[in-house]
Amino acid sequence: MNLIQTDVITPEDFLYFRTLMGWTPIAMEQIENGLKNSAKMICLKDGDTPIAMARLLWDGGYQAQLCDVMVLPAYQRQGLGRLMVTSLKDWLRSQLKPGWSIKLNLSAAPGKEPFYEKLGFRRRPCEGAGSGMDQWMAGE
Ligand SMILES: CC(C)(COP(=O)(O)OP(=O)(O)OC[C@H]1O[C@@H](n2cnc3c(N)ncnc32)[C@H](O)[C@@H]1OP(=O)(O)O)[C@@H](O)C(=O)NCCC(=O)NCCS
Repeated sequence: MNLIQTDVITPEDFLYFRTLMGWTPIAMEQIENGLKNSAKMICLKDGDTPIAMARLLWDGGYQAQLCDVMVLPAYQRQGLGRLMVTSLKDWLRSQLKPGWSIKLNLSAAPGKEPFYEKLGFRRRPCEGAGSGMDQWMAGE
């Protein structure tokens, strides 16, 4: 593998990754807005071919969200997911000023909790924290 790390993801690549994962389709305008407004993105390539991506949302305050962590099936279990999440966490940590703390959230796909636990995330609900909750809204 000729591994190259970039911080650019094209909307087309993003759509390709999501389609391959079988995830909910997203409108192209929303993809473009989402990529433009991400705090940090990572795209791993094997030569010229995108093989993995992840991105981070952050409001500049104490709330951040890790999302769209995707590794193409042929490249899974080779440390690429860990590499991306660790890089994004390192970047977020580098933004901390004295006295600051940031809560990094994520919604795990079914069965992926052990992957995130190895990267320091706790499973909810747990002592002191209820279930993570979410809600989808659809336009007419
Ligand atoms: C989940 C995903 C991102 C993990 O990426 P990956 O590159 O395969 O994972 P890594 O090789 O970096 O694994 C890091 C560690 O987590 C473990 N791990 C990875 N996936 C795991 C799983 N599904 N269940 C249990 N452990 C897992 C690895 O064994 C490794 O453990 P080690 O440090 O003891 O060796 C990848 O499988 C993927 O893209 N899946 C499909 C999309 C998806 O569900 N994304 C998550 C959305 S929340």
